[in-house]
Amino acid sequence: AKKAVLGPLVGAVDQGTSSTRFLVFNSKTAELLSHHQVEIKQEFPREGWVEQDPKEILQSVYECIEKTCEKLGQLNIDISNIKAIGVSNQRETTVVWDKLTGEPLYNAVVWLDLRTQSTVENLSKRIPGNNNFVKSKTGLPLSTYFSAVKLRWLLDNVRKVQRAVEEDRALFGTIDSWLIWSLTGGAHGGVHCTDVTNASRTMLFNIHSLEWDKELCEFFEIPMKILPNVRSSSEIYGLMKAGALEGVPISGCLGDQSAALVGQMCFQDGQAKNTYGTGCFLLCNTGRKCVFSEHGLLTTVAYKLGRDKPVYYALEGSVAIAGAVIRWLRDNLGIIKTSEEIEKLAKEVGTSYGCYFVPAFSGLYAPYWEPSARGIICGLTQFTNKCHIAFAALEAVCFQTREILDAMNRDCGIPLSHLQVDGGMTNNKILMQLQADILYIPVVKPSMPETTALGAAMAAGAAEGVGVWSLEPEDLSAVTMERFEPQINAEESEIRYSTWKKAVMKSVGWVT
Ligand code: G3P
Repeated sequence: AKKAVLGPLVGAVDQGTSSTRFLVFNSKTAELLSHHQVEIKQEFPREGWVEQDPKEILQSVYECIEKTCEKLGQLNIDISNIKAIGVSNQRETTVVWDKLTGEPLYNAVVWLDLRTQSTVENLSKRIPGNNNFVKSKTGLPLSTYFSAVKLRWLLDNVRKVQRAVEEDRALFGTIDSWLIWSLTGGAHGGVHCTDVTNASRTMLFNIHSLEWDKELCEFFEIPMKILPNVRSSSEIYGLMKAGALEGVPISGCLGDQSAALVGQMCFQDGQAKNTYGTGCFLLCNTGRKCVFSEHGLLTTVAYKLGRDKPVYYALEGSVAIAGAVIRWLRDNLGIIKTSEEIEKLAKEVGTSYGCYFVPAFSGLYAPYWEPSARGIICGLTQFTNKCHIAFAALEAVCFQTREILDAMNRDCGIPLSHLQVDGGMTNNKILMQLQADILYIPVVKPSMPETTALGAAMAAGAAEGVGVWSLEPEDLSAVTMERFEPQINAEESEIRYSTWKKAVMKSVGWVT
């Protein structure tokens, strides 16, 4: 049968902590035509350690591309209409590989990993000048979260990595770099690059000059020769070297939270979005200026959509554990079989009955930055059952968002009137209603929640030399919104929130 021609299409890889997806959009309507998703394994070799296999991640990308192309074929859509591919990815996760063999030299050290806690403590004693040395250049606190200390650990502890650096065979990258290098040919001509948004999460990148910072590299003792070239978020980096989309340019690259900001069309100063994935990340566009937080938020690069385009910045509130707590209830406690079942359990009780769950599995991120915290469940009685714990887990995600929204409002001065949300967990209606109740402002969700992938596709389609996507807001006029209004009174909401804060205090200082 003759295949229907729809006009230019754009694909997007969305490589998150929990899963990999490939999605194909119509560049004229932003309509999602087809996608495929594969879950990614996480390994926990020791308490606090989190690793993933870089080759499994790469394989999952190829699998998702092939399966999505097959599905498009079944829909009679010709894949030769795919004109560009964008990449969005879990940020900070660190890979070192051998440029001659293409082999990773160790597992990927995931952003959630806590093995560098003592490295961070030692480094913080040696910070040159004042304590602002790292933050003033990078917008980030010195923390286990960011790549520089993970890379330091690999250089200190993995003989293969040390040898490859000595022999000039080692390349470092976050997941975007690892994927783009591999997809564009790997050991046979792969392009070693990253974009400004991903670079801004390494703790080695100067967010003012938009370059790797020599002083930071000296401080962390990182050899600059292993770092990727830093490019804009929207330009042609290279062509796909293999598979169903061989020859298609890769022309968009954004860390997943920046991609969601673009996909939600938050292009104006003061526009914000909150994405519920493995973690939860609220980003507010601060325009062309870097705003430094007084309340525990990060300053980060939002996007730079073209080589000659200006850079935009964002304030970010990062929560380490959101969807990950549901996966923990499924995989570690076995109280649900699928992540979706959490909604059913929570609905059965409609309250946590005084039970509070602080999922500080990787310490606490914003606004506390407290690596000594560990998870606790408190307020238990003989009446408590798994439904209450499920409800408390959902509530924890909402309380953590409330903490970062409060910090954001204090830093920005103008409180947000509503919260734009996206990400897998937003399909959970109980969670969305709870979120509106706990924030006491409306929560607004687009009908197509795959905004991370959409942002990467937009950047790829708009790149110079591709030019199939225009970044005008009316492009998304077809997107409808679902709104959740607060239903409990403000007083009740405040009581619950202050009890949550009490629980948070109990989780702090658990490890010393
Ligand atoms: O900073 C980590 C973040 O990029 C991970 O995103 O979607 O896997 O929760 P996600």
